[in-house]
Amino acid sequence: MTHSRIAGTGSYLPEKVLTNFDLEKMMDTSDQWIRERTGIERRHIAASGETTVDLAERAARAALDAAGVRPADVDFIAFGTTTPDMVFPNCGALLQARLGCRGAAAFSVETACSGFMYALSIADKFVRFGDARRALVIGAETLSRITDWGDRSTAVLFADGAGAVVLEAAEAPGILSTHLHADGSYKDLLYCGGGLAAGSDPAKARRVITMTGSEVFKIAVSTLGRAMDEALAANALDRSAVDWLVPHQANLRIIQATARKLDMPMERVITTVQDHGNTSAASVPLALDVGVRDGRIKRGDLLLLEAFGGGVTWGSALIRY
Ligand code: ACO
Repeated sequence: MTHSRIAGTGSYLPEKVLTNFDLEKMMDTSDQWIRERTGIERRHIAASGETTVDLAERAARAALDAAGVRPADVDFIAFGTTTPDMVFPNCGALLQARLGCRGAAAFSVETACSGFMYALSIADKFVRFGDARRALVIGAETLSRITDWGDRSTAVLFADGAGAVVLEAAEAPGILSTHLHADGSYKDLLYCGGGLAAGSDPAKARRVITMTGSEVFKIAVSTLGRAMDEALAANALDRSAVDWLVPHQANLRIIQATARKLDMPMERVITTVQDHGNTSAASVPLALDVGVRDGRIKRGDLLLLEAFGGGVTWGSALIRY
């Protein structure tokens, strides 16, 4: 059977940086509270008129360059986002037209912070079964557009950015396994309203992120612990085999708790939450690209990627890079 491997990574962050000190001037919060509770120090915010697909295009071109793949050779685009430019065409199709990957299958996946993990898992299967040769997998968000800037408990968390990987068919295993899950019974703990059903429930009418943070925190930590055990057990691998944990960047305390469950020193965890905030579907591919480009992640390393988000949804991938 063919395998899929990561041929290249790329990312892009909007130019505008919003620091905790900037937020202090906008709402009743403090740099100290934000750093102690979340680990976040600054985040990037898209310029007026800059869209999710704008960010994705920059990340995708960087990943294609790194992979040495021409856009015309891409035959599959999986795009994770909850902040699409339009209801339709989907962001994958909009990106396909920009890049000129004519004829490539292109679609979006809407699973909040797990969007990239879902997109990666789907693309991996298409490549492994021979239905795609070169796949572009994107996680991109403009969460600042659905942030409730009047709610300090969420406004300090979310941010904008994009990450991308190019998958290609390979002889040797690259992506060893992916696991996806959801539990819709937690739908009221973390949501963004304003959808077509909004009229039937006034509480869900506003298109802003609403979160019961402390509950989500507890569920995220316990769920991610189980998800990592599941990924390792499926490959009969011990925790000590993992070279790098590349987690979803929601909160430094969640990342630290997850690393502890894996007996992983923080030196082997890629953390970008301090500089990027929570970029939802973009956070894992952004962190991966940072680790690859600064030379920490090397070819042959074993990577454990995981994400948890609204839905609730979660997913993991064990990858020989
Ligand atoms: N500045 C100052 N004080 C604040 C702020 C703020 N920005 N926000 C809340 N507070 C106050 C609260 O009002 C509360 O005050 P009180 O004790 O007087 O009532 C106090 O701080 C503690 O609030 P908590 O919500 O209990 O704080 P907690 O320690 O839980 O941290 C946080 C909040 C950071 C949101 C945390 O719960 C968290 O990270 N949760 C998980 C987020 C996550 O992983 N989401 C999933 C992915 S996101 C997605 O899918 C889109």
